[in-house]
Amino acid sequence: MEREAVLVAIDVGTSKVVALIGEVTRDGALNIIGKGTPASVGLKKGVVVNIDQTVASIRSAVEQAERLSGYNLESAFVGVGGGHVESENSAGAVAVSGPSKEISREDIARATEVARAVNIPSNREILHVLPRGYVVDGQEGVMHPLGMSAVRLEVETHIVHASATAVQNLSKCVQQAGVRIDELVAQPLAAAEAVLSGTEKELGVAVADFGAGTTDVALFLDGSPYHTRVLPIGGNNVTNDIAIGLKTSLQVAEDLKIRYGTCNVNAVDPDEQVTVEAIGEDTGRKVDRAEIARIIDARMRELFEKLGDEIQAAGRGGMLPAGVVMTGGASQLAGTAELGRQVLQMPVRVAGPTGVGGLVDHLLTPAHSAPIGLLLWGARAITQVDLGRYESAPAHGGLGRIRDWFRNLFP
Ligand SMILES: Nc1ncnc2c1ncn2[C@@H]1O[C@H](COP(=O)(O)OP(=O)(O)OP(=O)(O)O)[C@@H](O)[C@H]1O
Ligand SMILES: [Mg+2]
Repeated sequence: MEREAVLVAIDVGTSKVVALIGEVTRDGALNIIGKGTPASVGLKKGVVVNIDQTVASIRSAVEQAERLSGYNLESAFVGVGGGHVESENSAGAVAVSGPSKEISREDIARATEVARAVNIPSNREILHVLPRGYVVDGQEGVMHPLGMSAVRLEVETHIVHASATAVQNLSKCVQQAGVRIDELVAQPLAAAEAVLSGTEKELGVAVADFGAGTTDVALFLDGSPYHTRVLPIGGNNVTNDIAIGLKTSLQVAEDLKIRYGTCNVNAVDPDEQVTVEAIGEDTGRKVDRAEIARIIDARMRELFEKLGDEIQAAGRGGMLPAGVVMTGGASQLAGTAELGRQVLQMPVRVAGPTGVGGLVDHLLTPAHSAPIGLLLWGARAITQVDLGRYESAPAHGGLGRIRDWFRNLFP
């Protein structure tokens, strides 16, 4: 199939960096043609704490992806994670201008600008201003107001913002690795792109990406996000607990967790013992498998309680008819969905990414939902006919270029 565009996604995670190169074919399919997934160093809980190490990690991912694809990577859609990512909802209203009293692109942009003018401290950087819907002369629930006759246009937006300095440090690392930024995308929204169905987003759903250092959360209703947040807790906390509880190194604890870990204490024979096999100071030692499960259960329970608090705090009575869709590396622990259902009292499923083809070996696992979602986000951004939603997005240099590219395609 003929190639329409090539785009790149980079997810700089706490445990790994993922660089993906995708091609959008003329029939709209997205195929992965290059990937690099090295372990990352230089980040803590999704935030850059060492520039040089992070740059080296990104470079390594980029080089792997370039070698595999034979494509020279220039710019990328980049995920932003870390506990500093937050959101709020804001509305903006304007009088419809022009003699015809028909809503124009300019009216939509002005209304969005008004919504965006909400008081956000100067140490925050706005990542997204996403329209949730429009109110046209009092009529709610309008999704496509362009061309409608009206006097007054109101837009409801979901604004996602992050610490300006954390964003600058991440941007610096990506740029020092030789990559320009097309757009910065909040990780929870990227993960949502890869695992949520349209119906779930309409009904009301949460995505929870359980990573190494963070849990990315985004809540959707009526098709769009209304709460985005990154919780600074993840699979590394579980590993730490095992290391402390069993007095082992982190490496041994990680190995025990992945080999024998489960959230379901009752499923483990109380007499079963497992042997420490990882290369470490205590190779050959025996530990109770039930003890590992108890430690995991306690921490995962806490994680789900925090997630439940977040869902409650987001309002709407904590109602999510389609429940919670879990993803991320740490969602792969045996028994997580069951424990989630028990603590949250709502439907919970674990999902991996869908919607891509090509070189997907080892990529269609929950740990890769965010990077694949970033690629899907990018593909939508560069092929979207109505670029209205990008007119007011922060200009990181890349979007203008995408718009130009797009205009060349459809003059
Ligand atoms: N099979 C498995 N069972 C349980 N946990 C696992 C498994 N595989 C990976 N993990 C855990 O998943 C975590 C890594 O997940 P992921 O790759 O999604 O994180 P990340 O994207 O690097 O980090 P973050 O998103 O927090 O910045 C680690 O804590 C790891 O122990
Ligand atoms: Mg992640």
